[in-house]
Amino acid sequence: MTGTLASFEKEVSQQFPTFSETNQLDELRQKEFKRLDETGSVYLDFTGGNLYSERQVRLHAENLLKHVFGNPHSMNPSSSLSTKHVDETRDQILRFFNAQDDYFLVFTPNASGALKIIGESYPFHEQGHFLLPFDNHNSVNGIREYARAKGAEVTYSPLVIEDLRFDEKTLQHYLAAYPEKKNKLFAYPAQSNVSGVKHSPTWVDLARKEGWDVLMDASAFVPTSKLDLKKVTPDFVSMSFYKMFGYPTGLGGLLIRKDKFKKLLKPWFAGGTVTLASAMTEYFFLAQDHSKFEDGTINYLDIPALRYGFDLLDEIGMETISKRVGLLTRLLMERMNALKHANGAPLIRIFGPKEMTDRGGTVIFNFLTPEGDTEAYLNVEPEANKRNISIRTGCFCNPGIDELNNHIQAGDLDSYFKSHKDGTVEDMMENLQTMRGAIRVSVGMVTNLADIYAFLTFLQSFAR
Ligand SMILES: Cc1ncc(COP(=O)(O)O)c(C=O)c1O
Repeated sequence: MTGTLASFEKEVSQQFPTFSETNQLDELRQKEFKRLDETGSVYLDFTGGNLYSERQVRLHAENLLKHVFGNPHSMNPSSSLSTKHVDETRDQILRFFNAQDDYFLVFTPNASGALKIIGESYPFHEQGHFLLPFDNHNSVNGIREYARAKGAEVTYSPLVIEDLRFDEKTLQHYLAAYPEKKNKLFAYPAQSNVSGVKHSPTWVDLARKEGWDVLMDASAFVPTSKLDLKKVTPDFVSMSFYKMFGYPTGLGGLLIRKDKFKKLLKPWFAGGTVTLASAMTEYFFLAQDHSKFEDGTINYLDIPALRYGFDLLDEIGMETISKRVGLLTRLLMERMNALKHANGAPLIRIFGPKEMTDRGGTVIFNFLTPEGDTEAYLNVEPEANKRNISIRTGCFCNPGIDELNNHIQAGDLDSYFKSHKDGTVEDMMENLQTMRGAIRVSVGMVTNLADIYAFLTFLQSFAR
């Protein structure tokens, strides 16, 4: 990087005149996210977790201090008040996704909790099938264990290595390949948590036409993009709310289309999930709404805090957030691709799509040596830490993309796993003499040009 931050900002405003349309986010940052600049933090792990505004925390604290909230499994005044606040929050979230007519919203501890409900309740059986592309978070991959345990077949659909998008022909083939089967579940991420690729929403209808139920993992998509569940209608949708607005943690959601609700067979019952249960006999009646899947006492003190997060997103507007994140990602990718070693060789290789269409604000990359070989990334995060830059390195709980990017062969993986009782990524790397992992940078609604400048300067420091 040459030039000062001021000259960088000037260049960017000339190159991207529409950037100024998102200035309200700089104002928001100054007012509500002061701690970023006060602590000199360059936060670039928005896909890992979003940041909260001061206002969310303040309003939540005020709400807690003002009211007496009790366990909602009762009818007393403090209990009813909790129920009222939780119900209002649930309604607001359903409206946010335009899902108020067609979906139930189940509160879960996180996206993984939502996905686990699908895993244990989807009626897999010997004639059933679980189909998923290689680009999935482990919390989706793990559903295959439920499928296999019930005798269902599991199929992975490949990605195209160049852009990490679906191999569309093969996926279409798989979707059409099992017409005789019943209870077929197709699961895919609306946006990759690793490559940032937005996988097309049209797969929902394509899969449904072939008889599949569709699980859309929207965890990486909804923080920066609008999801309208009247336009895209997956049967099940998973998400974590802290990824959307940072606070509170410990809450996620599972949206279930009402017409698929009865298809999910809950394998047990718990407090709060039944309308009636007997100890003397074997009988119980499960609730016929979201309560069916909310085991025990819900997080009734934190759930109402979600309102302040959704208010924030509504106030800024998802379009403004998408625009900001899109421009910053384009800028980041262009500038990263332009970084060079002294001999003119590229400093960085970005994985995934080169173009900006249908991609979000997550970029993965590795450093290259002046000779063009991939550098081990292990010293990158410690070096970033020294500059108070938060990025992430590793495999990001998405082994499919990593195995592909590092050209690892299924046969090698097979022999590693078969010859070990347990293991680590480091051990596997040594054993297979291969690279694993990459570096991930992700931008969000309050990322500013100073963050990008600091990050590019950091990257440049690796040039030789
Ligand atoms: C695409 C995707 N799905 C699922 C998850 C799991 O979310 P959580 O860890 O909040 O359960 C993540 C988390 O990074 C994710 O990015």
